[in-house]
Amino acid sequence: MCGILCYLGKRQALPILLEGLRKLEYRGYDSSGLALAENGEIFCQKAVGKIQALENSLAGVQWKGSTGIAHTRWATHGKPSEANAHPHTDCREKIFVIHNGIIENFQSLKKTLLERGHQFRSETDSEVLAHLIEEHYQGDLAEAVRDALGLVEGTYGIGVLSAENPQEIVVARKGSPLILGIGEGEIFAASDVSALVSHTKEVIYLQDDDVAVIHPGGYELSNLNSDSILRQTQKVDWDVAAAEKQGFSHFMLKEIYEQPEAVENAMRGRLIEEEGISKLGGLNGVQDEFLEMERLIIISMGTSYYAALLGRYIIETCTDIAVEVDLASEFRYRKLNMKEGTTVLAISQSGETADTLAAVQEAKRKGALVLGLVNVVGSSIARETDAGVYNHAGPEIGVASTKAFISQLTILYLMTLALARHQRMSLSEGQAFIAGLKLIPDKIRRILESASKIEAIAGRYHGYKNFFYLGRKFNYPIALEGALKLKEISYIHAEGYAAGEMKHGPIALIDENFPSVCLAPRDSAYEKMVSNIQEVKARNGPVLAIGTEGDTELQKICDDFIEVPATDEILQPLLMVVPLQLLAYYIARENGCEIDQPRNLAKSVTVE
Ligand code: G6P
Repeated sequence: MCGILCYLGKRQALPILLEGLRKLEYRGYDSSGLALAENGEIFCQKAVGKIQALENSLAGVQWKGSTGIAHTRWATHGKPSEANAHPHTDCREKIFVIHNGIIENFQSLKKTLLERGHQFRSETDSEVLAHLIEEHYQGDLAEAVRDALGLVEGTYGIGVLSAENPQEIVVARKGSPLILGIGEGEIFAASDVSALVSHTKEVIYLQDDDVAVIHPGGYELSNLNSDSILRQTQKVDWDVAAAEKQGFSHFMLKEIYEQPEAVENAMRGRLIEEEGISKLGGLNGVQDEFLEMERLIIISMGTSYYAALLGRYIIETCTDIAVEVDLASEFRYRKLNMKEGTTVLAISQSGETADTLAAVQEAKRKGALVLGLVNVVGSSIARETDAGVYNHAGPEIGVASTKAFISQLTILYLMTLALARHQRMSLSEGQAFIAGLKLIPDKIRRILESASKIEAIAGRYHGYKNFFYLGRKFNYPIALEGALKLKEISYIHAEGYAAGEMKHGPIALIDENFPSVCLAPRDSAYEKMVSNIQEVKARNGPVLAIGTEGDTELQKICDDFIEVPATDEILQPLLMVVPLQLLAYYIARENGCEIDQPRNLAKSVTVE
């Protein structure tokens, strides 16, 4: 989704902004632009498409200014075009604004501004901000920004540069992430730490209604009422190398290969083997409420939603807690009674998904204990929840989530263990659960060693236009996730189904051109999965089965077979998902798709 980077310091801003925009590319975007100040003048350039297009359009530009703002745009209002790309400017072309988020009342604001004679150049909601600031500008840029934001409904992370105040940048946030990076004699502001972490690790996470004025002496923080505020500086623990490809052809592949460590990092320091329990430090303050909950509602979107679905199966299998799962975007439409004993768990890799954040706020209003399972430290959902657990998966750059998913699952297993041991799971069962979990990273490594086999299978399947992904019980959510991976990065139509549902309609589509990827490990649902596979085969549908190592019977009835090591059936999803990620990756690569930044998708969806 849109990305923001601002720089004010002693160095030349242009190369820093371009490098930073490249770091934001993974969020998903369709155009970009920047504005640079020098000697009271502002130079602005925009381009449709990749950052390279912007860079090409800047060939020969000798702009040496050390103050600038830059943006990657993911279209919401108005198609991707130069006119719609940011920065947007006022009528006099003196004030330049970059904006993430959505101005919900832009139409009424625009109407008033048009009546007052303002001339618009784009179809975006964001442009109203430039004209509103112009309306209120009387020499003090921050004052004009505050006045303008007072009229705005919706969400924003903004950066504003004015030709009349070239020694400052004003930034502000409400509902869209914005982070100040404090360097030596230079200040950054970005929507994402990855854009600034190579320059500084000292950051301030701005909060809603914060306004920061950045100037050569430093920065000043205030709220929309101009009251000064203090925010703590924090240290980012991201290793710069973690945000680089390190020899892999794509971030997604690198992140798939990082999954053994992602599982280890999620478990590290959280398991006590002698007692057969898990300890999640982030829940210390709410331990009693967490352990005593009677009902759990898990909310999330996208891949995180499939983690939630698995969470329901495993928590219900091991405890007496009633678990519901909801897409965060639908949660608000339900009239739920959050009576005592109800806990809401929000799962979000980015911690910024607007739908999930809104659902968190709604659950809090209704009085539930709201917990978070979040990867990005300091993100909005991490801050807004009552307590929570961090994944510690490190930065995930590929838009299609892989290692964050597996680490979400790992933490759900740890939560399940904590809850189950508090209820009826015995010490020896708890210890066996831990022993099984600890073997998972090495079993994932073994699957990764067979990647070339999956690559060869992808070579045979990449031409199909439709796929089914079928699974049962614990592997049903994994079938949904496998299908999502394929459609996200290869644009091939893929549907995940509970295998039992197949014969109630979908099977009508099966013919020799419609393959099914069937998840059939040797578990308690195995026999039924085999019957479903036979039903597909009887209609000439090609079958690629993912099963347990050495299952020659299964191998005989399907066209292609990928084997994964055996484990306890409850833990099997941690292994089943890995070949599906690799399959999607290799099919997309075979088809020449843009794997890390698929069309139309964004890493962090900050609009509802
Ligand atoms: C976007 C991403 C998905 C992700 C979903 C939820 O759609 O492209 O990969 O699963 O958002 O994101 P979250 O950060 O809340 O887990």
